[in-house]
Amino acid sequence: MENWVYIRDIASAAGQQVTIKGWLYDHTDKGKLQFLLVRDGTGVIQCVASQKDVSPEVFAAAQAVAQESSLIVTGMVQEDKRAPGGFELAITHVEILQLAKDYPITPKDHGIDFLMQHRHLWIRSARQNAILRIRAEIIRAVRDWLDGNGFVNVDTPILTPSSCEDSTTLFETAYFEDKAYLAQSGQLYNEATIGSFGRVYCFGPTFRAEKSKTRRHLTEFWMVEPEMAFVDLDGCMEVEEQFVSYIVQTVLKNRAAELRTLERDISRLEKVVAPFPRVTYDEAVDMLNQKGLPFAWGDDFGAPHETAIGESFDRPVFVHHYPTAFKAFYMEEMPGRPEVCLSVDLLASEGYGEIIGGGQRTASLDLLERRIQEHHLTRSAYEWYLDLRRYGTVPHSGFGLGIERTVAWICGISHIRETIAFPRMLEKIYP
Ligand code: 4AD
Ligand code: MG
Repeated sequence: MENWVYIRDIASAAGQQVTIKGWLYDHTDKGKLQFLLVRDGTGVIQCVASQKDVSPEVFAAAQAVAQESSLIVTGMVQEDKRAPGGFELAITHVEILQLAKDYPITPKDHGIDFLMQHRHLWIRSARQNAILRIRAEIIRAVRDWLDGNGFVNVDTPILTPSSCEDSTTLFETAYFEDKAYLAQSGQLYNEATIGSFGRVYCFGPTFRAEKSKTRRHLTEFWMVEPEMAFVDLDGCMEVEEQFVSYIVQTVLKNRAAELRTLERDISRLEKVVAPFPRVTYDEAVDMLNQKGLPFAWGDDFGAPHETAIGESFDRPVFVHHYPTAFKAFYMEEMPGRPEVCLSVDLLASEGYGEIIGGGQRTASLDLLERRIQEHHLTRSAYEWYLDLRRYGTVPHSGFGLGIERTVAWICGISHIRETIAFPRMLEKIYP
């Protein structure tokens, strides 16, 4: 009878005969001893075949097996302080399922283009495995926090008839005789569902035909978007800081090993605890000019500006009350100062830039009708959205957290392309 165990559970099988199923990570040939480093998705274990203890066939198989071959190894679990993971497998049997030849990714330094072309294989590396596990942990924390704080998960459509954010970044697709757009955000729909539930969130892929080639932009990214009735801009920031603190602290607690693999300086993450500092857009403009980055009131921040502001604080910072002119049509105006709106972005620490965009939405029918006109949006496509201001309109707020930018920040990696298994970017849709 085979006793198949996952490597992560190996400690509980000490002294037993077990079977491991996985792939060869590394092979060291020491003549009469063959060291096979085997990984199975849950961990890595060193397996040793000794010529004097196994049959010639088994020893030959251990000698022949090459990097990334799939194999089934049986042996005795032995505690060994020197072995990675603290345990070693003394091999009694090796079955090679498929002998991989000339695995393209070797320990030498490959260029990023080569690695991206081989993303389907690159994801097997320890580093990529750690990043994607942290991503999964972030997503779990996102759902845990929202589900535990009275938010109802209501998912919104991906095929939509109109735009939410910038209409120049819409992906268009045929929809039978008509056309549709891939969703840039689920926000407008969840402004409707708060009328049924009060607090909701959607979580799914969103799409933007971003022509910019930057380290922060994907064309397909995942966004979680909470929306809350009877919550104003201040209340929105309070929710955001609790939410983000919980995510970071949960990753620190549950994914310490992966953060170590990435050599992440966790002292910076340990500081990410609510409350977060808050600055107005006006103050941020002054800060930039004082830092010697000339910046005119009314301009939108670019990556260097966000980095400079973010680096001025030891935890994420809210920038709020942006100019109305460059924010989306649905933003509520500041009372008495209509050139400014009730918007807020959260800039991550360590210069990672914007991870959340959001704010308070227009509650007034008149203002919303005017905005739809000013932004040259097709009014008929938004009649349903106007209805929300006709039938029981309330002050309400919400925000969208970009998962990939959050992963990049928490993992401490410089480019967003490594934060999702198969990134979609300008000029990049393979594999
Ligand atoms: O600031 P954005 O555009 O806000 C919205 O979409 C709102 N409708 C959200 C809401 O209020 N419900 O996008 C929100 C976040 C950004 O802060 C960023 O983290 C991420 O989504 N994001 C991107 N991530 C990767 N690639 C892109 N091209 C992104 N565009 C936005
Ligand atoms: Mg934004």
